[in-house]
Amino acid sequence: MKVTVFGTGYVGLVQGAVLADIGHQVLCVDVDESKVAALQAGRIPIHEPGLDTLVIHNQRLGRLQFTTNAADGVAHSELIFLAVGTPPDEDGSADLQYVLAVAKTIAQHMNGPRIVINKSTVPVGTADTVAAVMAQGLAERGVQHRFDVVSNPEFLKEGAAVADCQRPDRIIIGTDNPASEAKLRELYAPFNRNHDKIVVMDVKSAELTKYAANAMLATKISFMNEIANLAERLGADVEAVRRGIGSDPRIGYHFIYPGAGYGGSCFPKDVKALIHTAKQVDFEPLLLNAVEERNQAQRNVLFERISAFYQGKLRGKTVAVWGLAFKPNTDDMREAPSRNLMEALWAAGATVQAYDPVAMQEAQRIYGERPDLKLVESPLAAVQGAECLAIVTEWQIFRAPDFELLAQTLSDRVIFDGRNLFDPALPASHGLGYVSIGRPAIE
Ligand code: UGA
Repeated sequence: MKVTVFGTGYVGLVQGAVLADIGHQVLCVDVDESKVAALQAGRIPIHEPGLDTLVIHNQRLGRLQFTTNAADGVAHSELIFLAVGTPPDEDGSADLQYVLAVAKTIAQHMNGPRIVINKSTVPVGTADTVAAVMAQGLAERGVQHRFDVVSNPEFLKEGAAVADCQRPDRIIIGTDNPASEAKLRELYAPFNRNHDKIVVMDVKSAELTKYAANAMLATKISFMNEIANLAERLGADVEAVRRGIGSDPRIGYHFIYPGAGYGGSCFPKDVKALIHTAKQVDFEPLLLNAVEERNQAQRNVLFERISAFYQGKLRGKTVAVWGLAFKPNTDDMREAPSRNLMEALWAAGATVQAYDPVAMQEAQRIYGERPDLKLVESPLAAVQGAECLAIVTEWQIFRAPDFELLAQTLSDRVIFDGRNLFDPALPASHGLGYVSIGRPAIE
């Protein structure tokens, strides 16, 4: 089948490459000329395991192409995916300008029936807005073409995006139109062989499903962070509690890891947007408010621990930071807890020596040159000359450090661990202080 994808960000690029890989003819459209030029030359703008090989392979076979020409994109296929960004507005609502701009473009160029499939995370009711914009665009041209707007939210995780997209848990199709449903079933058939993953529902429920999934996961994390704070004050160990409750299949082991707060481009944005949506229909989302508030507070916890250790006297200290990306296997630093930590350290007069396996360039791009940030090329270089170490992202490479060497190198012999990577006895056996999340501190 022929497929057009508008937007070559995480969602669009991965979706386009994965659809091309099963044999569809995919044309990806983006307004960003330099990005399209890079993609045409086989350079992938994001770090995502397996994506570069997939893109290059399918490009060579001619099944995956990139263009800035929107008219070509609209002409290419009856099936048009919308996978453009929906960044948060200042009030937390999703900014739909890119989605609606593409809707307008499609209406300007379409010369036959089209099915517009929305993959971007958009507030409930957006499919109707997209349809209205398209209807208006067609009316302005004085032409009539059949079209349908379907909600087909994406559930991929950064760092595992390709695998998630190739083996989805579920494929949500939000439409009341049997013809659109049939087309999407055909498109997704190769992903639906072993057992039926397709769940068909009305458009609004599909739109809400996306937010509900992310908000539920964010709730699990904030809940666990709340328990961690409580455990710490009660002298309990949240890691024991985690294992204790995770064994109940109704709770499960996933997404109950306490830490430095959730980050990334999705949870913070989507929880805020859902709160905004609730308020618009005069509903006060008490639970979502609390999830968001707990997360805001949690992102400061690591700094608070460091500041308490130094009794607020951080001026002139050098803090080693391991991990800048919001989670492992990505270079994405959007809403990363590392940023809260570093910015608070800088405000308190400390210097940061940071290392991340892939997010160094991103950190450089965000913060530029500044005297209180040294981006270094290894975990060991980060601790050289530092008083203490803060671990913010649970990259594999940080999981088995040479504690003896750390004890010799860090002048204040203390680790602040925002991810609970170690059995506290281990650093302690090398004479290192160890302050983690939701467990008794060893200082
Ligand atoms: C999330 C969802 O997991 C995907 O299902 C969804 O498709 C995606 O958002 C999206 O809406 O596009 P992602 O933001 O890539 O994916 O990352 P996650 O792996 O979910 O992690 C989010 C944050 O939660 C990270 O900062 C992570 O460190 C934190 N987290 C996760 C915890 O603090 N504890 C946990 O137990 C799990």
